Amino acid sequence: MSAMKSLLDWIDARFPLTKLWNEHLAQYYAPKNLNFWYFFGSLALLVLVIQFVSGIFLAMNYKPDAGLAFGSVEYIMRDVNWGWLIRYMHSTGASAFFIVVYLHMFRGLLYGSYRGPRELLWIIGMLIYVALMAEAFMGYLLPWGQMSYWGAQVIISLFGAIPYFGEDLALWIRGDYVVSDATLNRFFAFHVIAVPLVLLALVLVHIMALHEVGSNNPDGIEIKKKKDERGIPLDGIPFHPYYTVKDLVGVAVFLILFATVIFYLPEMGGYFLEHDNFVPADPLKTPEHIKPLWYFTPFYAILRAVPNKFLGVVAMGAAIFLLFLLPWLDRSPVKSIRYKGILSRIALAVFVVSFVALAWLGTQPATPTLTMFARLFAALYFAFFLLMPIYTRIERTKPVPERVTFK
Ligand code: HEM
Repeated sequence: MSAMKSLLDWIDARFPLTKLWNEHLAQYYAPKNLNFWYFFGSLALLVLVIQFVSGIFLAMNYKPDAGLAFGSVEYIMRDVNWGWLIRYMHSTGASAFFIVVYLHMFRGLLYGSYRGPRELLWIIGMLIYVALMAEAFMGYLLPWGQMSYWGAQVIISLFGAIPYFGEDLALWIRGDYVVSDATLNRFFAFHVIAVPLVLLALVLVHIMALHEVGSNNPDGIEIKKKKDERGIPLDGIPFHPYYTVKDLVGVAVFLILFATVIFYLPEMGGYFLEHDNFVPADPLKTPEHIKPLWYFTPFYAILRAVPNKFLGVVAMGAAIFLLFLLPWLDRSPVKSIRYKGILSRIALAVFVVSFVALAWLGTQPATPTLTMFARLFAALYFAFFLLMPIYTRIERTKPVPERVTFK
């Protein structure tokens, strides 16, 4: 034991190990009323690690070459020892990442976690979200299946809708007149090194910003306002061991679900791995129905709901950009949905229904009837944000308790 202690002293004299441990774990005080919605941050960290590890092993056998890519993925699936497991971990991990992150963001909407003093934390989160979308989009080209190819073709050509320089921009992104080997090579470089580095840096900054202001909680009360004589928040408990142990429960449940999908439903009925992507990319044969994976479909539905291509791109960009503005759109005197009024509750419910409906509509062929519904739900999606400064101000809120509620 004393040998351990002297090793620790030796390290501490040269690197702030104990200091970091205390600041971020043993003496980091989190509200004692955090519920299951607070699992998703640590789960997002777990999925990030899963993606990095499985990705490194995939890269050992994958070939970023238009002539070899599809075959190398089949080789991984059939001939590489445990290759199928590594690939399914990575493909299921991509969808799991978005499920976890969407739930994590929804928690923010529920409890007003984006409100001051956490505006910057929210913005960093949104930057993570955008980086994650870029990462997933570029990763999807790599298996070089029909949907990889044509999905990339459609999305990159959207840049062509920008007036004046759009076509040049699309050409510059592809590195060719159509999606080709040049595109595959650069997407590979971005997917395996550039964007992961950005993601990792953003996640570290996200945690630093969180630990500077401290966690919000389901009551939306700032626990730092009520401290004892030692300066410890009265409603705070040390993150370690209390929340490390609690988060392990979330990890266990998540891993059971994750393993169930990997072993029994790796394609998830075409939602996690699309059927068309088991056919090699063919630049001469356009698939009948091109659609992105489920996590992009809400925005894809908004894009298609607008008749003009350029305005569709603008609407799609605005749908994401408005999320960045949430801290300033919400004018309620209270943070948590628990104490907000009926209008905020209805608005949030309508928003969730619209988002899910748009996600489903984005997976379907754009028939006239479905397009009409897409327009309706897109309008409701935007109304949630644009009317927020009004409904959060005029509704009657409930009194917020002095201390967190904890049973
Ligand atoms: C790789 C993706 C992400 C990781 C690893 C991550 C990690 C975390 C962790 C560990 C926490 C503390 C635990 C918790 O509150 O659940 C947290 C809190 C938070 N995150 Fe994230 N996050 C990610 C993405 C996002 C995104 C996309 C947003 C929003 C756009 C976001 C916004 C927030 C906010 C507002 C909090 C504070 C919540 C509160 O205290 O109520 N995060 N994040």
